[in-house]
Amino acid sequence: MAEGLAEAGGYVHVLDMRPEPAEGFLVAKDRVDPTFGGGLEYHRANVTQDKQLEDVISMIAGRKQRLDGLIAAAGIQYVAPALDYPAEEIARMLATNYTGVFLSARACARQMNKYKIQGSMCFIASMSGVIANKGFIAPVYNSSKAAVIQLARNMAMEWGRKKEDGTGGIRVNCLSPGHIVTPMVEENFRRGEADRKAWEENSMLGRLSETEEYKAAGLFLLSRASSYMTGQNLIIDGGTTAW
Ligand SMILES: NC(=O)c1ccc[n+]([C@@H]2O[C@H](COP(=O)([O-])OP(=O)(O)OC[C@H]3O[C@@H](n4cnc5c(N)ncnc54)[C@H](O)[C@@H]3O)[C@@H](O)[C@H]2O)c1
Repeated sequence: MAEGLAEAGGYVHVLDMRPEPAEGFLVAKDRVDPTFGGGLEYHRANVTQDKQLEDVISMIAGRKQRLDGLIAAAGIQYVAPALDYPAEEIARMLATNYTGVFLSARACARQMNKYKIQGSMCFIASMSGVIANKGFIAPVYNSSKAAVIQLARNMAMEWGRKKEDGTGGIRVNCLSPGHIVTPMVEENFRRGEADRKAWEENSMLGRLSETEEYKAAGLFLLSRASSYMTGQNLIIDGGTTAW
């Protein structure tokens, strides 16, 4: 999704807790054509750390005196039945999947208000935020995604109206993907926590998705193409939740 925004001319700052960016970032960075004004830059940040996020995001916004959008995608997975789920793992999951999105959105909204930018945000939830995801035992992950969908509605309501002083006018939506082939999901297959064949069968299209299939949706939600859309959850899941 970052690549899609950069291809469209956006300058995209990618934040992740890894000391070095993932390989996909480096491949995308090589492909971005500087003649369109787009770019990709990496920053190390942990979305559970409020002060760290505020510092990085205010530094980024301060450079060009603006911040136009946020895609909040950091997330973790932990597969265990509810009866055996360790309490500390519940807290760890919610700290990243829910609080991390909250803190990221708030830090960005503060900068958008500071520079009077009517920005747009996209929270990466999941189809697992609206269904129990048949056969996949992830009660906290799934409910953390439901919480993100509800958070988007509430922040959309709080920040939607542009005020006379130029603040506000910020749109907030969710994107809820179906199964995507990513390191997180490959790990689920490797550990035997999920059955690839069953997941393919769950989709009306009979297959998993690739990350590239969400690029246009990210661009849609962050650009004026979606200017009258806020508080919504865009589900792109190969039809998995539609039957
Ligand atoms: N893969 C899927 O099938 C699927 C489906 C629906 C939704 N999602 C969601 O998409 C998002 C990306 O998932 P993915 O499949 O690419 O997973 P991934 O594990 O491949 O990538 C997640 C990234 O988040 C980073 N991260 C984790 N905790 C962090 C923290 N505290 N601070 C900063 N960065 C942190 C990790 O370092 C990693 O680079 C997640 O929110 C996930 O829940 C994934």
